[in-house]
Amino acid sequence: MNKYSVKQLLTHEGAGQNVHIKGWIRTKRGNKFVNFLALNDGSCLKSIQVVADNERFSEDLMRKVNTGTAVEVKGTLVASQGKGQSVEIQAQDILILGEADAEEYPLQKKKHTMEFLREIAHLRPRTNTFGAIFRIRHTLAFAIHEYFNQKGFFYLHTPIITGSDAEGAGQMFRVTTLDAKNPPLNSEGAVDYNQDFFGKSTNLTVSGQLEGELGAMGLGLVYTFGPTFRAENSNTSRHLAEFWMIEPEMAFHDLKDNMDLAEDFIKYLIKKALERCPDDIQFLNDTYDNALLERLQSVLSNDFVRITYSEAIDILLSSSAYKKGKFEYNVKWGIDLQSEHERYLVEKHFQKPVILSDYPKDIKAFYMRQNNDGKTVAAMDVLFPQIGEIIGGSQREERYENLATRIKEMNIPEHELWWYMDTRKYGTCPHAGFGLGFERLVLFVSGMGNIRDVIPFPRTPQNAEF
Ligand code: 4AD
Ligand code: MG
Repeated sequence: MNKYSVKQLLTHEGAGQNVHIKGWIRTKRGNKFVNFLALNDGSCLKSIQVVADNERFSEDLMRKVNTGTAVEVKGTLVASQGKGQSVEIQAQDILILGEADAEEYPLQKKKHTMEFLREIAHLRPRTNTFGAIFRIRHTLAFAIHEYFNQKGFFYLHTPIITGSDAEGAGQMFRVTTLDAKNPPLNSEGAVDYNQDFFGKSTNLTVSGQLEGELGAMGLGLVYTFGPTFRAENSNTSRHLAEFWMIEPEMAFHDLKDNMDLAEDFIKYLIKKALERCPDDIQFLNDTYDNALLERLQSVLSNDFVRITYSEAIDILLSSSAYKKGKFEYNVKWGIDLQSEHERYLVEKHFQKPVILSDYPKDIKAFYMRQNNDGKTVAAMDVLFPQIGEIIGGSQREERYENLATRIKEMNIPEHELWWYMDTRKYGTCPHAGFGLGFERLVLFVSGMGNIRDVIPFPRTPQNAEF
C-alpha cells in the first residue's frame, strides 16, 4: 500500500486504489451509521474526507478521533458522493497515533482571533490560515533562490555575529559570554570586551550588506538571505526585532539597474506565489481581505512609478491632505518620510508601487553614493500599498575620498571599517544593491494585517516565547 500526502491524493486519478495516509483530524461529523472525518496533513489547504462506517469501527475508537487527533488511515480511494471534493477515502483501518483531548484542545472549530492564535503560536500551524501563510512563505523563499540562481547570482552567507556596528541601520543586540553580574573592567572602569569571547565587542547583525559588498567585488553578483536583528523598541504591525532580509549586491550596476532589478524581482516573486499557491491565496482573499488578489494582480500589471524624493515632497505639499492638515507629521524637504506620507503617495496619489530615489544625504546611511548636488544621495526605497517601505537600497559610494570624508562627518569609527575601505582602495567600481524585508513581502502577498502573523515565532519587544 503506497503512502500519500493529501495533496497527492486530491490530484490523483486512480480511484479504486488502496491508499495509506497520515494526518490530523480537523473535524468529525456523522450519524449512527457513519462518521465523516476531515483529515489534513499540511501538504495543502484542503483536507481529504475519510468515511468511517460505524459497523467497522468501535464507538470507543470513534470517541477518540477528535479535532486535533493524529491518525493513520488505510483504505480505498473512491469517487466522492459529497460535494466539495472529487475523491474520499473509504476507511478500512484507523490507527490513533496521538490523541487530543476534545475538551482541552485549544484549537476548537470556531473562529479564533489573530491575537489569541499568536498566544498559541506553537499550535497555529495547524490552522487553515497559518498553513496557508507558511506555505506561501516557503514558496516565496524558494522562488528567491530560484530567481537569483537563474540570473547568475551567488548566495553568499554573511555573518550573523558581527564585530562592527557601523552600518547604522538600527540598535543592536550585544553578543557576549561575559558574566553579566561581574564583568571584567578596564582601567577606565568600563566593561573590558577584550576579555570577551571574540576579544572585542560583538553584536547580532542588522544587515549583511557591508560583507555582501565584499563578496560582490570578486563574485560580481551576490545575494544574502538571512536573519537580521534590530533592538528598536518599535511595537508596530510592520516591525520585528528578528526578521529575514534578502540583499542582492551587484558590481558594475548603478541606481537605475538597481531599480530595474528590484521591480523585476518582486514581480517575479508575486507571480510565482500566485502560480504555486492559488488555493492558499484564494482562501486568504476570501477569508480576510477580498481585495488581496486584485492588489497582487495590480502590482504585476503596472510599471512602478519612479520619482525623486524632492518630487515626492512637492506632491505631498500640494496635496489636499496636507492643506487640510490631515498628516500627523509635518512635511518639508529634509524630513524622513513617515508611513502616512508613503502610503498617501502609493495608495491615494499614484495607486501603484512607487520607487523614490535621491533622498537627502542627512537621513541616509554613510555608504550611499553622493550626488553632484551635494545634498542628496543615490538612495532608493520601494513603497508598496498597505506596507509602505518594502525595499531600501542604493548605489554605493565607490570613491575612496568621498567615502572617507562622509565617514568622518558622521563620526563613524573609521578603524572598524578598514576592510570596507580597502575595497575602495583596490579595484573599486560602481556597484549597487538593496534589502527586501522578507516578512514585509509575505505580509503583502498574504494580505495579513500584522507582521507577527507571517513569521512562525515572532520576536518583538517583551516577547520571545516559543
Ligand atoms: O532599509 P533597511 O534598513 O536597509 C538596509 O538594511 C540596507 N543595508 C539594505 C541594503 O541596501 N542591502 O532595511 C531593508 C528592508 C526594509 O525596506 C524593510 O522591508 C525591512 O528591511 N525591514 C524590516 N522588516 C521587519 N522588521 C523591521 N524591524 C525591519 N526593518 C527593516
Ligand atoms: Mg530603509
